[in-house]
Amino acid sequence: MFRLRYLTAGESHGRGLSGIIEGIPANLPLTPEYVDRQLSRRQSGFGRGGRMKIESDRVEFVSGIRWGLTIGSPIALYIENRDWENWQSGMSALSEDKGAVPPVTRPRPGHADLPGAKKYRQDDIRNILERSSARETAMRVAVGSVARRFLEELGITVGGFVTAIGGAAMRIEPSALMAEDLKRLSSDAEASDVRCPDDVAAARMREAIEKAMTEGYSLGGTFIVYAEGLPVGLGSHIQWDRRLDSRLAHAFMGIQAIKGVEIGDGFGLADKPGSEVMDEIFPAPGSSRTGSVLRKTNHAGGIEGGMTNGMPVVVRAAMKPIPTQRKPLRSVDTVSGEPFEAAYERSDVCAVPAASVIGEAVMSLVIADAFLEKFGGDSMEETRRNYEGYLENM
Ligand SMILES: Cc1cc2nc3c(=O)[nH]c(=O)nc-3n(C[C@H](O)[C@H](O)[C@H](O)COP(=O)(O)O)c2cc1C
Repeated sequence: MFRLRYLTAGESHGRGLSGIIEGIPANLPLTPEYVDRQLSRRQSGFGRGGRMKIESDRVEFVSGIRWGLTIGSPIALYIENRDWENWQSGMSALSEDKGAVPPVTRPRPGHADLPGAKKYRQDDIRNILERSSARETAMRVAVGSVARRFLEELGITVGGFVTAIGGAAMRIEPSALMAEDLKRLSSDAEASDVRCPDDVAAARMREAIEKAMTEGYSLGGTFIVYAEGLPVGLGSHIQWDRRLDSRLAHAFMGIQAIKGVEIGDGFGLADKPGSEVMDEIFPAPGSSRTGSVLRKTNHAGGIEGGMTNGMPVVVRAAMKPIPTQRKPLRSVDTVSGEPFEAAYERSDVCAVPAASVIGEAVMSLVIADAFLEKFGGDSMEETRRNYEGYLENM
C-alpha cells in the first residue's frame, strides 16, 4: 500500500483483535455504529457455525478519532473476543499458565496447521491455528470500514453479492453490468441470507448448504465485489506493483480460503476473440469523471493498463470449501507419527456470504489507498479540493 497502511493482530481465542490504520485524512466523520454495521454483515449468512452465535462484534476506537471526527493520526481499533473468559488460562500470556489446555498435535488438511508448525517449530499447533483462523478478518472488516467511510465522502460506493455456492450459480454476465445494475444487485443481496440477489439461485444455494450440513461436508463458491463512482486514473501503468489490478489481486488473495481472482471477464477473456471483448470508447462531453467518454460494456472490469477507466471496478473471487468437515479427513499425529482421522470441531459449512463482505473491505482499502496516492491531502477538505481540481481539468 502506498498512502494507506494497516496491520491487524490477535488470536482467534485470545483477548481480542487489534488493528491500526494510518493515512486517513483528518475531519472524516466516523462512528463505532458505522463499523459495527459492517462487522454484523460479516457475521451473518446461512451455513455459519456456532461461533457466530457467541460473538456479536463491537468495535472500540482506541485512538485517532476525537468527537466523532478523525484527527489525522493513526486510528487504532479493538474488538474484544466474547469467548475470552473461557480461554483466559488456555491463551494466557503468562508462563505459569502453561499446560492449561492440552496441545494440538493433529494437523487439519487444508489449514496452516502443518506447514506453520514446522516453519515456526511449534509442538502445539494451537500456536499456528489461532492466528491463521479467519477470525482475523473481523479486524480486516473494521479497518476496511474506515476506508469505506472515506470513499463514501467522495461519492464512491463499494458493494458485492454471492454468485455461486457449491456449484449452484446465478446466471450473470459481469461485462453487461453498469453501476446502477451493480448497486441494485448488491442492495437486493442484503435481504438474502446467502447474499445472492437472484431468488431462484439463492434457493438452490440454500439447498446445497442444507445437503452439505446433513452429509457432513463443506462448500465454497464465488462472489463479485465492485467499486463505482471512480475517476479515471487510479493506479498506474508505470510499474508492476502500482497497477491497480495487481494490488486488488494481492488483497483478495490475502483473504483466507480465496484461491482465484478475476478482474472483469477474467478467465472468460481467454476463450474469446479480441473483437468481442474490448470496451469500445464513445464520446460523452462533460463526463469529467470518465474522461469525457463512455463505455457500453465493461469486459475490462473498469481497469485498463493498471488504471481505473471510470467504469465500475469489478472483481470476482473464488473461495475453496471450508477445510474442517464433519466427515473425517485423514492426517498424521505430529508427535506419534501415527495416522488418524481428524476429529470434528464446530465449524462453518459455508462462509462465502461472509467472504463477500470481507472482499468489500479489502476492495475499500485498495481503492482508498490508490485514491490517496493520487490526490493526497491531510484533511478531507484538502483531499476533496485536490480531487475536484483534477476533475475540472480533465
Ligand atoms: C469468513 C471465513 C470463515 C471461515 N471459517 C472457517 C471455519 O469455520 N473452519 C475452517 O476450517 N476454515 C474456515 N475458513 C477457512 C480457513 O480460514 C482457511 O481455509 C485456512 O486458514 C487455510 O488458508 P487457505 O485456505 O488460504 O490455504 C474460513 C474462511 C473465511 C474467509
